[in-house]
Order: sequence, then C-alpha cells, then structure tokens
Amino acid sequence: MKKFPEHFLWGAATSAPQSEGHGSLNGKSPSTWDKWYEINPEKFQKNQGPEHTSNMYENYIEDAKRMNDIHMNSFRTSIAWTRLLPDGKTINPEAVTFYRNYFHELHSNGVKPIINLFHFDMPWWLMEKGGWESRESVDAFAFYAETCFELFGDLVEYWTTFNEPMVHVECGYLYGYHYPAIHDLKKAVQVAFHTIMAHTMAVKAFKAGKYSGKIGIILNVSPCYPKSHSTEDLRAAELADLLNTKSFLDPAVLGIFPQKLIECLADNQLLPKVEVQDLHLIQMNPVDFIGMNYYQPRRVQAPATVNHPAVSPADFYEHYDWPDKKINPYRGWEIYPEALYDVAMMIKDQYNNIPWFVSENGMGVADEERFMDQTGMIQDDYRIEFMIEHLQQLHKGIEAGSNCFGYHTWTFVDCWSWLNGYNNRYGFYRLDLENDQRTLKKSGIWFKELIDRNGLL
Ligand code: NOJ
Repeated sequence: MKKFPEHFLWGAATSAPQSEGHGSLNGKSPSTWDKWYEINPEKFQKNQGPEHTSNMYENYIEDAKRMNDIHMNSFRTSIAWTRLLPDGKTINPEAVTFYRNYFHELHSNGVKPIINLFHFDMPWWLMEKGGWESRESVDAFAFYAETCFELFGDLVEYWTTFNEPMVHVECGYLYGYHYPAIHDLKKAVQVAFHTIMAHTMAVKAFKAGKYSGKIGIILNVSPCYPKSHSTEDLRAAELADLLNTKSFLDPAVLGIFPQKLIECLADNQLLPKVEVQDLHLIQMNPVDFIGMNYYQPRRVQAPATVNHPAVSPADFYEHYDWPDKKINPYRGWEIYPEALYDVAMMIKDQYNNIPWFVSENGMGVADEERFMDQTGMIQDDYRIEFMIEHLQQLHKGIEAGSNCFGYHTWTFVDCWSWLNGYNNRYGFYRLDLENDQRTLKKSGIWFKELIDRNGLL
C-alpha cells in the first residue's frame, strides 16, 4: 500500500461564487459575474448564470454532514468579498453570521476549512473604478483581507489570498472569457502586478496582525513541455513557464521576480508601473505554503511568426498538439499524471521545499447522466482511475521528499462553472438542477475508502 503522510488533508474545493447562490440577497452587492450575467445572459452556457449554484447558502449544514459522510477532513471555499463588504467598507452582519455558522458547521463535522479570499469575483463597485487595473484595488483588497482575518481568524487555520490569479488576468484581459473581456497585453501585465501587490499587502496584514494559522496562495500550474529540444522550442517552453507560473510563484514564495521574466517584459515594453516600496514589500512577505491546481500540462512550440514588441502570448509560445497524448474521452483534454510528480519535484528543488498541497485536481465530464445506474448513482470509474493515476505520481513525489500535506479534488458537489455553466461536472455528489438534490457518486465512496486507509492500494 502507498501510504500518505500522517494528518494528510483529504478533501475538495469550491468557491463562494460557484456554490453559494443568493447573489443579490442577504445584503450582498453584485460582483462582475452578477452584472455581466444581467447585461449579457446569452454569453453563459444554457443561459445559466451565477444564481444556478448548489445553493450552499441554504444547504451548508447538510453539506457539511455529507462531507463527513465521505470522511473528508478538509474543504476549501472562498468568502464573497461582495457579501462581506457590500460597499467595500461596511461589514454586512448577515454575512458574518453566515460564514461563522458555516465554518463552525465544518469544524463540528471534522472538516478543516481552508479559506480563500478572491476567486475571480471582483466587486462591481470596484470594477467601475477600474478593477485590478487601478492601484486602488490593492488597498481595497488589503482592507477586505484584514477584515476577514479579524472576523474569522479563530475559525480558520489555512488562509489563501487568491485562487489562480493568472486566470482573471488572462481571461479578463487577453482571451475574453471573464469581464471586462478586453485584449490588451500591457494592461494584463499591470493587472497581474496589482494582483501580486494585493496579495503581498494581505500577507503583510496577516503577519502584522499575528493571527494564528498560515497564509498562502493557490496557483494553477500547467508544467510546460517543449515540442522538441531545439533552442527555439526550449525558449518557448521557458517563456510559457515564466509568464504563466513563475510570474506569481516566484514573488509569492521567493520574494523576487525571475530575472529572465523582467528582461522579457522590458524587451517588449511591457514592464508595469511599480511604486518605490513594492519590490521590498514583496521580498519581505513570502507565503507559508502554496496550493497547486493541476489539471493538464502545457505543450508548446516556438511561434511561427512574432510581433516585436509582443501583442499577445502567441508572440512568445504556441500551443502544440502532442500526438501521443492520453485524453479525457468525455472532454478531449489531455491527461498526464506524470506532471504532478514534476510539480512536486519543482517545488522541492526550486522553491525551498515549501509546504504545499494539491488544491485542485479533477476530471470534468460532459453529460454525466449517461453513466447513471438504475439506483440513480453515477458510476464514474473514469474519475476514480484519474485520481488513482494522479495520486500515484503524487505519492512518488512525496517519497522523493516533496513536502506535500494534502490533496483536494475539484469538487465536492457538481458546481456552476462561469461561462460553462454545468457543461463539465466534477463532483463527488451529483447535483440535480431541478431540486438541488445531491446524490453520491461511486467516486465519493472510493474517496472515503482512500481516506480511511490514508493510502492507495
Ligand atoms: C479552476 C478554478 O479554480 C475553478 O473556478 C474552476 O471551475 C475549476 N478549476 C474547473 O475548471
């Protein structure tokens, strides 16, 4: 049996905007998602907007029991900034009651809450002032973060500032999948820098406040593999890695930006506006741990033609379709568990072996009802196989000395996924969209047995 370390965190992740519902109720103000849906519902898969969640706002008591039923010992969600501070300054008492009750309920069921502060849900009032493009967002976020530490610090041991910050940067400012859906590389770099500063100021507030617990950040990692060993392809893979992963990982963990990233941005006239103290503040405020969301690798090759200065990421690297890839037959995405071992080794060798956990890993499947048996249970053997293969690689990394303390899947109950609605289901519990009912899938039973053994057979 492949045993995992003692006290290993086993669980699943979601986010406030994808699970709570009640987007305009109980004192909450709109986020960009609520507004975007109001303005443009047809952009969203089957017109399903942010109200189409599993409604954990009302179901959290039962859901905490369900977590306990499958022996999860930890769970990640986020706080909705717009629920807690509807105008950015005034605390909403209903939100305080809700989150305190919610986190208590998790604890009473033996589930440690891991609480994230920002999961793509920019408040609308702040977006109207420029969102992450504006320096104002840094102070606004630091105030929000400190408010959370003060209000919920006694109930939370693991805090994270951002989930996948590169996603609001690229989806909002390069690829058009998130509001404001513009395409501007220079703005994207500034947005990324303000996000790093917002993160840094939250870490600073956490350390200054001497709160108990730890603070980290959750990043999406797609290890980059070049098409060939030609100098050009190797350079493309290096740039993809610098721009997508190291741009956040290095300042968060090591307190500095990679020199090659700075050179690349300077060479393309993309350096962001930086204030005098910024780099010092980044250096003084490294995280205590990191979460890594891993789904699939990035295969890259050198671009055929480039603009200089660059106008999009395609001027640095291009996607390459690896012919030997194993694919998720229900979505077409590549499955490459070996990358998880590479991530484990990268953290060990290049990031001081900082404590880390797999904060998301999972298999999205379309039309999952086709796998429902006569009792109503989804027989998701494909998901079990996916998790086994990834856990084998993770275990190998831990055996080799990587300091991993947990594994979370995406997700606990099937959840709403931005423009994609319910196109891809990932949960241990199936959500019936008609009546919010949750039904355990076969993978949930398997996960419970895995947790009981704390090991893979
Ligand atoms: C990444 C994000 O954290 C989450 O919001 C998203 O729904 C899942 N992975 C699945 O794509």
